[in-house]
Amino acid sequence: MNLREAIRTRKTSNGHFDPRPVSLEHQRMLVEAAERAPSHFNSQPWRFVLIDDPHVRSKIASIGGRTMTQLIEGGSFFTRYRKYFRFSQEEMDERRDGIFIDQMPMALRPFIKQVFSDNVMNVLSKLGVAKLLGEDNRKLIEGSPLLLAALLTKEEYKPGELSGYYCTLSLGMAIEHVWLMTGELGMGIQFVSTPMEIPEAWEELKTVLQVPDDLELMAVYRLGYLPPEKQRPRIDWRSDHRKRLSQIAFRNTCANPEPDAPSTL
Ligand SMILES: Cc1cc2nc3c(=O)[nH]c(=O)nc-3n(C[C@H](O)[C@H](O)[C@H](O)COP(=O)(O)O)c2cc1C
Repeated sequence: MNLREAIRTRKTSNGHFDPRPVSLEHQRMLVEAAERAPSHFNSQPWRFVLIDDPHVRSKIASIGGRTMTQLIEGGSFFTRYRKYFRFSQEEMDERRDGIFIDQMPMALRPFIKQVFSDNVMNVLSKLGVAKLLGEDNRKLIEGSPLLLAALLTKEEYKPGELSGYYCTLSLGMAIEHVWLMTGELGMGIQFVSTPMEIPEAWEELKTVLQVPDDLELMAVYRLGYLPPEKQRPRIDWRSDHRKRLSQIAFRNTCANPEPDAPSTL
């Protein structure tokens, strides 16, 4: 795969992965790809935990599922993130950002917009939908043959200081390398973010991973080989659209948007 294709086809994998284990060689390729990333003064502030033990995966999965349920039941998930949700192709074509909910149970489709209102979310939670989605998420994580935790050394990661900012940039680049390498290896990757939204759950995760005091847990991902046939989750989205050149790029000063042009990728 050439670089242009790797960048064009990179995407988030929302569905189940093939249950076969990720080979040790491929796991090492992922970490080596990460460490080729740039970092301030070559400080290499990142650390990674490769999690393939089913018992550890299962503990993380149960934290992931439970936090998903909690966030939906508490209403905070949709209140916090509703602005990113798009419900029609027209809305998508106009905004060109956010995530387009294009897969949802038949019975809910006529009410798609209302479904994400606070009232309806409360009713749905009472009907057990939050538990259902949490359980789906738990299964997705538990069934992922590899989880990857990304950490930063606290020697470098000092929030509020420049080194903290440099570290975060560096880790972002390292993770993008992992992401691109998954494409090369026929794998998929997805952020496991719900535990991060609930501080006690994040602490629990740190205990599971035995994170020492000199490291900061920054992110957790689930990975695996892509199955021959993709099965989409009950509620799913697409986010392959991108803004136009004129919306994101300027020439010389911010006063001059770059004219739109056909894609080069
Ligand atoms: C900081 C950050 C947080 C993200 N959080 C989540 C998440 O919680 N769940 C998820 O499925 N994807 C998450 N993503 C992936 C984005 O949703 C995704 O990159 C975006 O919608 C574009 O889609 P694509 O990756 O398929 O191109 C995150 C990405 C970033 C960079």
